[in-house]
Amino acid sequence: MALVPDGVAAMAKHGCTMLVEQGAGSGAGIADDAYLDAGASIVDSAEVGAADVIVSVRDLPEGRTGASSPVFVGVFDPLWAPQRAQRHAADGTCAFSLDLVPRITRAQSMDVLSAMGTIAGYEAVLLAAGRLPQMFPLMMTAAGTLAPARVLVLGAGVAGLQAIATARRLGAVVEGYDVRPAALEQIRSMGARAVEIDLEAAGSTEDSGGYARAQSDDTAERQRELLAPYVAASDVVVTTAAIPGRASPLLITAAMVDAMAAGSVVVDLAAERGGNCEVSEADVEVDRGGVTVLAPTDLVSRCARHASQMFSRTLVSFLRHLAPEGGVDLRDDEILSAMLVTRDGAVVHPGVAANLGAAETPEVAANLDGSEA
Ligand code: NAI
Repeated sequence: MALVPDGVAAMAKHGCTMLVEQGAGSGAGIADDAYLDAGASIVDSAEVGAADVIVSVRDLPEGRTGASSPVFVGVFDPLWAPQRAQRHAADGTCAFSLDLVPRITRAQSMDVLSAMGTIAGYEAVLLAAGRLPQMFPLMMTAAGTLAPARVLVLGAGVAGLQAIATARRLGAVVEGYDVRPAALEQIRSMGARAVEIDLEAAGSTEDSGGYARAQSDDTAERQRELLAPYVAASDVVVTTAAIPGRASPLLITAAMVDAMAAGSVVVDLAAERGGNCEVSEADVEVDRGGVTVLAPTDLVSRCARHASQMFSRTLVSFLRHLAPEGGVDLRDDEILSAMLVTRDGAVVHPGVAANLGAAETPEVAANLDGSEA
């Protein structure tokens, strides 16, 4: 749920009239009455479309905006799926996508990516622990000594570091890997071993914003070769590697899965953008030679109470920034322009507009087809 009752109360106090779609909080265990108590009116879906500002967790279904030039705030990954931006432009919506939050200190309280990444990393490890036919911690019992599970986390951004922390708390022996050198230090600080592989002549692995760069085909191939023995030796591999607006890097080939022991588990968190594992399929449980490969896209929803609480905090922070005096103020501002996707019937975000232009290339066109399906 985009706003929990506390968030509704905060926005009402800020001077906004709050409308909540009937039953919207039920999936997160929040009853309509709790929103009424927080100062909102409960309305049906047609009335929501008449609001000046509409907020939602993901994108809006087509035809859901009714007011003239409403503001929409959600998470719709327009860099990856620019056709969604095109639709908002056609509807005349002024659309902000929270996933475009700039990773700067001033915007930290609006960082929905970090908030959701924290939950996804935690849930990924719990999912793997539930499927692995062994326990995570070392056990010395009268019935013998049980070795701890070996967990490898590939991609150590927010989700990866939380996966490392969770696996460590459960007592596993944990290794982590990332292309960004700064991440290796963070892996060690969580008490895990950092896997260091030598990607010669790879050039800089990091862009000016601190995000990973896409690797060349040769470097990616070498990376997979060097990671193969670590993958083969692991009981659980959690992958979280992502590059903003691009397909996720392929880190685990089918042959690498084949080299894992039967009973092992792979959890691929990158499925929405093609996945980090060659055999993973979004939301399908794949059994490959006894290795379970999972690629859930709904992990955050499994923790709906905390996910909604965190989402709501970041959204309130953004809405206060968007409407400092209570009314929407579309001013020239670093944070607003980073997240503004469409305005006055046009796609105004340069990266999204560039990706729309790239729709003629086969790779992007294939993605556009896939995500529409
Ligand atoms: P993300 O979700 O975009 O990517 C996840 C991880 O995958 C990243 O650590 C990335 O380096 C890694 N990766 C990409 N390609 C890879 C490959 N081929 N092999 C292995 N790993 C690969 O990342 P996230 O979690 O959104 O963080 C991105 C950056 O933003 C990081 O530098 C993070 O420290 C920074 N950040 C800054 C914040 C701030 O407020 N200043 C807040 C949160 C994150």
